[in-house]
Amino acid sequence: LAWLLGRRRRREGEPPLIQGWIPYLGKALDFRLDSQAFLKNNQEKYGDVFTVYIAGKYMTFIMNPLMYPSIMKYGRQLDFHEFADQVAPATFGYPAVGSGRFPEMSDQIQRSFRLLQGENLVLLAECMMANLNLVLRQDFLGGEGERGAGVVGTGWSTGGLYDFCNSVMFEATFLTLYGMPAPARRHSDMATLRHHFTKFDDMFPLLVGRIPIWLLGQTKAVRETLIRYFLPQRMMCWSNTSQFIARRAEVLEQYDTLSDTDKAAHHFAILWASVGNTVPATFWALYYLINQQDALQAVRNELHQVLKLPEAQGPQQPEVIVSKEQLDQLLLMDSAVNESLRLSSASMNIRVAQEDFSLRLDEKRSAPVRKGDVIALYPQTMHMDPEIFTDPETYKYDRFIEGGREKTDFFKHGQRLKYYRMPFGSGSSMCPGRFFAINEIKQFLCLLLLYLDLEMEQGQEKAQLDNSRAGLGILLPTKDVRFCYRIR
Ligand code: HEM
Repeated sequence: LAWLLGRRRRREGEPPLIQGWIPYLGKALDFRLDSQAFLKNNQEKYGDVFTVYIAGKYMTFIMNPLMYPSIMKYGRQLDFHEFADQVAPATFGYPAVGSGRFPEMSDQIQRSFRLLQGENLVLLAECMMANLNLVLRQDFLGGEGERGAGVVGTGWSTGGLYDFCNSVMFEATFLTLYGMPAPARRHSDMATLRHHFTKFDDMFPLLVGRIPIWLLGQTKAVRETLIRYFLPQRMMCWSNTSQFIARRAEVLEQYDTLSDTDKAAHHFAILWASVGNTVPATFWALYYLINQQDALQAVRNELHQVLKLPEAQGPQQPEVIVSKEQLDQLLLMDSAVNESLRLSSASMNIRVAQEDFSLRLDEKRSAPVRKGDVIALYPQTMHMDPEIFTDPETYKYDRFIEGGREKTDFFKHGQRLKYYRMPFGSGSSMCPGRFFAINEIKQFLCLLLLYLDLEMEQGQEKAQLDNSRAGLGILLPTKDVRFCYRIR
């Protein structure tokens, strides 16, 4: 009763308010069940901007992508890091960066993100290429790796597609960022690390939803095992560590108030950031191509043209190296990857209002916002808007290419959109690893398309998106699908 009596009342000019009747949770259950449908329904009823009470927070959703540029201008009043600094430490197990105990750490961490971008990408791409070749050739193309003899001879092999993408991308990304036990050597316990990571990742939506870790069975012990992997004395023995991770280790070393376990937890958080979305994104990129063989062939043709290679390039040939410059020329592949990201990404962009103020939405409209309220963008509704993308449910590998160039003009209500694809977030909190991520997915596709024939196993259902992590990034498939591959 106290909750009902104390409920917020909508003030003059504020967006429509949807509170529900369940104390604290408000509309949380409806939102979790199917966020996309929930938001679309409310947009139809209440218009482009409305406030929903969800799990103790008032969240104002901005549903019209034409308003996004205006929202992104509010760097000072709409803060991202306050929210991230509440959620990430509780999820990954390190003390809050912005707590005042670690002066300048936040700025130093932000500066380290530059090492994932610009000129630094050339070296990262080179290492990633070598590591992809190492893992793929040893495990799947006849070498002697984790999976024994891999593919031998000319026959078809089968496997789970997600499992395949996971094992290759997880390890190659790990080696590229964190380094290896010795040059060109693999860590012997990668499969165990991956296994623990998957267990933790299954609980990730609950942890981000602020469910205490002690309520989640083995998760705390699993997280401790994962964190121990990155203790400074272990990491010191690895060679070829990327400048990005090396710089972060240096920054963490400056703070006596951090224990070795805290430092390791920071490194573990980056492991999650670097593979948690990349692995499912790689899965969808490959899945859609294999399902649509004409798309796969078109992307492969482009690859042969750019690399000036003959038709077939089996792994018995010297290993293929695709340079960063060549990767940038693969526009059709870029379009195919971006199209799969459009279909599979469901990240919510969150900002916290630092004061009461009037939020300008576009040239005509503004909305009063209260201090502490959350402003949320939910780009999945834009990605699936038929006015912006014809047949939005359909995978069209060449959607983002026109006349041999990247297509960048997409419209809503007759106006050109500044933002039409947002799998990597927006504005000040945009993913710093986005260029590296796209590169590594493209590199993975390059090697597979050059080395292997790929088909789906017949007679199985299509892969479905698992909505349980809607709002948190790239959605996983509800279950794995089987594919067949053989050396070309
Ligand atoms: C943050 C998506 C790959 C490092 C984010 C955010 C999103 C995202 C949506 C939050 C942005 C926001 O809330 O506005 C993705 C996707 C990826 C990917 C879809 C792959 C397809 C990577 C990779 C790395 C990385 C490979 C590192 C090598 C980070 C970091 C942050 C972040 C460090 C936090 C940034 C901050 O605290 O300011 N990513 N990411 N991500 N991502 Fe990525």
